[in-house]
Amino acid sequence: MSTEQPLAIPDFLYGTAWKEDRTPALTELALRMGFRGIDTANQRRHYFEAGVGQGLVAAYRAGVVARRDLFLQTKFTYQSGQDRRLPYDPAAALSVQVAQSMSSSLEHLGTDYVDCYVLHGPSSSYDWTDADVQAWEGMIKERDAGRTRHLGVSNVSLRHLEQMALAHSEAPAFVQNRCFARLGWDRDIRLFCRERKIIYQGFSLLTANAEVLHHPLVAGLAARASATPAQVVFRFSRAVGMLPMTGTSDAEHMKQDLASHDLALSPDAVQAIESLVG
Ligand SMILES: NC(=O)c1ccc[n+]([C@@H]2O[C@H](COP(=O)([O-])OP(=O)(O)OC[C@H]3O[C@@H](n4cnc5c(N)ncnc54)[C@H](OP(=O)(O)O)[C@@H]3O)[C@@H](O)[C@H]2O)c1
Repeated sequence: MSTEQPLAIPDFLYGTAWKEDRTPALTELALRMGFRGIDTANQRRHYFEAGVGQGLVAAYRAGVVARRDLFLQTKFTYQSGQDRRLPYDPAAALSVQVAQSMSSSLEHLGTDYVDCYVLHGPSSSYDWTDADVQAWEGMIKERDAGRTRHLGVSNVSLRHLEQMALAHSEAPAFVQNRCFARLGWDRDIRLFCRERKIIYQGFSLLTANAEVLHHPLVAGLAARASATPAQVVFRFSRAVGMLPMTGTSDAEHMKQDLASHDLALSPDAVQAIESLVG
């Protein structure tokens, strides 16, 4: 693993969920279009991680990118979130499951390290449980062994994060959550993250927020900037400190999503969008 170079965190993550047989081609396309951050999971039910690896190989061979240019992120998913295609022995201790899942991910992705390893979700929707403590400690071991540079958690509440902070000396570097505008764009969690220098990754920014995309304020901002409402939402997300994710399967949308970076959005507009529906 090459730890000597500083980690460049891209300003957009390309999500690979729900792409099945199209995963290799769409991963390669996303890299060709300019994405440098890839999110996946060793959860065959929703992701085809080995297909992501095939897309990476194709991009490497074509000289589009090299491994060192990329931010590769994958996840450990509990058995309750999986179908029968498990990447570990379910009878093994959780820390062993974490290590087995990681070995399988590295094989799928054709690499000897990932940039971030994410706990896909806590074992309970309410508390940070003993199972989570074991899984997280296993993930720390993976990080210490050099198989991931960073650790993250996903699908967490503020209560989870507060309990996690009490249970462990090590905080996550990333939090990945579905971001609902009607919850102030996950305001409480974003604030928690900002105070602790944790990077907040937002997903479903478009699909969870149709009311924002159709709102006259956003439509007006988009029209004035000769952009689309989707681009305004992605630009907004960055302005409030998020690392946005997109799972588009469309080359034009890939281009637009990346180009949202350059959109002008005034502080007043950012504030107005932030309090639009929640
Ligand atoms: N941690 C978790 O539990 C979890 C859960 C869900 C997702 N994720 C991650 O997040 C990634 C993204 O998921 P998501 O829920 O945000 O997105 P998504 O479900 O992949 O869908 C994005 C939607 O937005 C549309 N879109 C994207 N760019 C657009 C644009 N510029 N204009 C118009 N429409 C646009 C896409 O349509 P087109 O395809 O037609 O562009 C698609 O319908 C996933 O692939 C996965 O990696 C993680």
